[in-house]
Amino acid sequence: MNIYKAKDYDDMSRKAANIIFSQIISKPDCVLGLATGSTPLGIYRRLAEWYEAGDLDFSQVTTVNLDEYKGLPKENPQSYYYFMHENLFKKVNIHADRTFLPDGMETDSRKACEDYDAILHSVGGVDIQLLGLGHNGHIGFNEPGSIFEAETHCVTLADQTIKANRRFFESEEEVPREAYTMGIKTIMSARRILIVVSGADKADIVKKAFFGPITPQVPASVLQLHPDVTLVADEAALG
Ligand code: GLP
Repeated sequence: MNIYKAKDYDDMSRKAANIIFSQIISKPDCVLGLATGSTPLGIYRRLAEWYEAGDLDFSQVTTVNLDEYKGLPKENPQSYYYFMHENLFKKVNIHADRTFLPDGMETDSRKACEDYDAILHSVGGVDIQLLGLGHNGHIGFNEPGSIFEAETHCVTLADQTIKANRRFFESEEEVPREAYTMGIKTIMSARRILIVVSGADKADIVKKAFFGPITPQVPASVLQLHPDVTLVADEAALG
């Protein structure tokens, strides 16, 4: 595992964005696995700036996102589709039909997950998967106890995750209880993994995930088994 220690959130974002930059430069038709949450926002800002400056071209890039809330339509500002559109897709020259997320409005969970896995296979796999880290060690929405062999599946969110994500909603009741997420197996099949972490409140889980035993109770710990993982974390998170 490569570990890059960043000074602060901005430095973390710049370092991680540079890794994605070099991926797009070296393979213009690459498949980027993308993530939501607050941590990647600085990365998306940088990528959009570099596109504006003429340094990056997304015209051949395909993106697949980790997860989506079940039951939220694309127009809902809390849907991950909306998040990606606002924070990245509408700011760069990516083709809308090359951006994929699980279909949150598909009520048949099995169909939603099978359809998404079919998309993931059809794009030929992920060149680099960006990940954030949940306070309980979740990646995507793979909560503690997730089996390592799962592909895309429907999950019931952990209470801690509902509480953590409550800040984006009017009330806790509005936070969806279920989501579709790539499974650990799907994530582990990416050719490269880039995980970003910021803030002292994540220091404990960083220690457990990357320097502790590999266990389904800390889903991110499985990344220790991946041959090409880069962790970019600020000093506070590595504290
Ligand atoms: C959500 C997302 C994850 C994300 C996590 C951490 O639950 N499903 O993909 O990594 O939150 O979010 P944040 O970066 O805001 O701490």
